[in-house]
Amino acid sequence: MEIFRSLETADHEQVAFCSNPGVGLRAICCVHQTTLGPAIAGIRARDYSDEDEALTDALVLSEQLTHKAAAAEVNYGGGQVVLLGQPPAQRREAAFRALGRFIQTLGGRLIGAPDVGVTALDLGYVATETEYVAGRSLFAGSYDPSAVTADGVLAAIEVCLERRGHATGLAGRRFAVQGVGAVGSLLAAALSEAGGEVFIHDHNEARQRRVVETNPGLTPLDAEELIATEVDVFCPCGRGGFIDAPYLEKLAGRIVCGAANAQVAPGFTDYAQLAEHDILYAPDFIVNSGGLISVVGELEKRPEDWVFAMNRRIGERLNNVFELSEAEGLSTIEAAERLARRRIEAIASLSHSFIPGERD
Ligand code: NAI
Repeated sequence: MEIFRSLETADHEQVAFCSNPGVGLRAICCVHQTTLGPAIAGIRARDYSDEDEALTDALVLSEQLTHKAAAAEVNYGGGQVVLLGQPPAQRREAAFRALGRFIQTLGGRLIGAPDVGVTALDLGYVATETEYVAGRSLFAGSYDPSAVTADGVLAAIEVCLERRGHATGLAGRRFAVQGVGAVGSLLAAALSEAGGEVFIHDHNEARQRRVVETNPGLTPLDAEELIATEVDVFCPCGRGGFIDAPYLEKLAGRIVCGAANAQVAPGFTDYAQLAEHDILYAPDFIVNSGGLISVVGELEKRPEDWVFAMNRRIGERLNNVFELSEAEGLSTIEAAERLARRRIEAIASLSHSFIPGERD
């Protein structure tokens, strides 16, 4: 990969490579932008096929987090930490502590947060060595970030239905929830409780069975049936990366609004196809910002009420996206990105005026 060209493409500020072979740690720490504040960075561990794939993941996810934070009206930038593979079990503590020490050297430009493949225990190891990590108390459960995220998705779905002329709410509408893990199961239950007809699929059969046992009102389907079923709203709550031309054809006419991160497939940019297929797409980083808002709530020691109130504003933010999209003839993805950039530019412009004492 031509690293400098990749950094310039999306204006990344910094990429730091962290290596400690003695404890089995290879990590990439990426800071996309810190105009609004320190970069919050999910820490994820994955078996990447090669270093390019890991770096690309870090670059893409950190840029998305900048957009997510800006759109969520919080004062943080976007970053990402990726570990190339899981550290060996016997050296896990040392590996995550080594990562913590490395994060500390960045001096607070990057704040680590939970992401896939990393446990609360791992974050605890990181926190032994650095003050710049968040998310442990979320695991410990003052409130559940998945519940915050599911509530935000619900707020977004209500706005989408209204946009499509269904002002009467969720009752009587049909929903397909793809992936019923921590967020999807809560969302499916809430939609059903509100009087919706809810179809679900999870490729983890045991999990799907458990969710239906707990909530017999949900209808389980196989993967293809779920996509083929006529619904008002398709709610992706599993893995992202699925939105491409063939998939959009299958989703024609529906609202797409769910928690999954990074829903657009890598390299797919023909967003005009959303409108061509009459799809009302609610951009993922607006809809699923509840996880980030939870992390910010913990960092800033905000009460639970603040977290849920801030999160409920997702509906209003999404409405702004739809309005800009209609007014300017943009896809909803472009409109959401433009609104996020606008906020960053507006806040950046504030420092043009000098405040006495600010340099001290
Ligand atoms: P989870 O790991 O608890 O559940 C995901 C479930 O989706 C699993 O049961 C998995 O088997 C299933 N799944 C994945 N891809 C699937 C597919 N194509 N078809 C059917 N089932 C599929 O994850 P969680 O926490 O519920 O998160 C769901 C999504 O939301 C992820 O993309 C995550 O990155 C995103 N997200 C979660 C947040 C949170 O607070 N938990 C916050 C923001 C985003």
